[in-house]
Amino acid sequence: MKRIICLLAAAFLLTGISLYAKPRIRIIATGGTIAGVSTSPVSTAYSAGQVGIQSLIEAVPQLPLLADISGEQLVNIGSQDMNDAVWLKLAGRINELLNEEDYDGVVVTHGTDTMEETAYFLNLTVKSDKPVILAGSMRPSNAISADGPANLYNAVAAAVSPACRGVGVLCCMNNQLLDAKAVIKTHTIDCDTFEGGPSGIIGYIYNGEAHMLQTPNNRHTFRSVFDVSGLEKLPEVGIVYGYANASALPIKAFADAGFDGIVLAGVGDGNFYKDVFDVAVKAQENGIQIVRSSRCPTGPTCLNSEVDDEKYHFVASLDLNPQKARILLMLALTRTHDWREIQEYFKEY
Ligand code: DGL
Repeated sequence: MKRIICLLAAAFLLTGISLYAKPRIRIIATGGTIAGVSTSPVSTAYSAGQVGIQSLIEAVPQLPLLADISGEQLVNIGSQDMNDAVWLKLAGRINELLNEEDYDGVVVTHGTDTMEETAYFLNLTVKSDKPVILAGSMRPSNAISADGPANLYNAVAAAVSPACRGVGVLCCMNNQLLDAKAVIKTHTIDCDTFEGGPSGIIGYIYNGEAHMLQTPNNRHTFRSVFDVSGLEKLPEVGIVYGYANASALPIKAFADAGFDGIVLAGVGDGNFYKDVFDVAVKAQENGIQIVRSSRCPTGPTCLNSEVDDEKYHFVASLDLNPQKARILLMLALTRTHDWREIQEYFKEY
């Protein structure tokens, strides 16, 4: 008997078969440049969303060393075409994989143009503390030094890492792990385009291992109150860009169309031109929630600063840029239309 046990142990050791099952990681593909194909390896002309999930997985033969990998194709689009319907489907599928099919983590391959928005939407709607990691690329799949395969490998390495559990949704690009709330795309073409200020880079991947530097202090995922499981659509919220001598036509159009909320990408600390301001006050009086945010790439939009939010019942977006403020306002409006309650959500999430 002893001889048999020794032989079995030797067989396991020699063949490298682990006595322990590897983590089960599901990769959901949505398109983007990571699935893009260029006309030639040196050309910048390319189309996103051309390559399927199996090709993405086959381009990284080392993935099975990390995890028990499987994949599925949700959509195959440029992420400039990302929309509420895909978001609702993606959140529902991730919750199903993590909470009903018992996967240990999910990786989402995604275009970089709206990756920060999808990451934040999932940060508010995924009901699990298991790792959910988004990965993309800035160079198409057939470009010289395509960055997609390495980003995908690193994203799976993060998804199997216990250190990436309970920290909310992350983006994994260029060896860095970025927090869903703070991450922003800052450069149109550079591979290191994703940043996020002091709370953005919360870790990094090195040698296939995740190393965490900090943990987010806002509510997210398993501690989020937002539940989209029964929703077919989301409230309508538009964004109005602020600038000198701004026309009030865009905000009027949203108001006349009966939008549920309007986010103002204002100048400075969420200020806007007087003609726009007057329409915003009227819209708020008519039940359209106004959120002041800023076109400035960094810094908070503060409550009751140059604008008396208390007086007008406006909400200040605090640390959220306009595109993320829009997401939180949409989800907040599924629960309340009370501006004070909505402001509390902006303080927590
Ligand atoms: N069409 C853009 C997108 O899918 C390409 C940018 C990229 O994925 O890096 O977001």
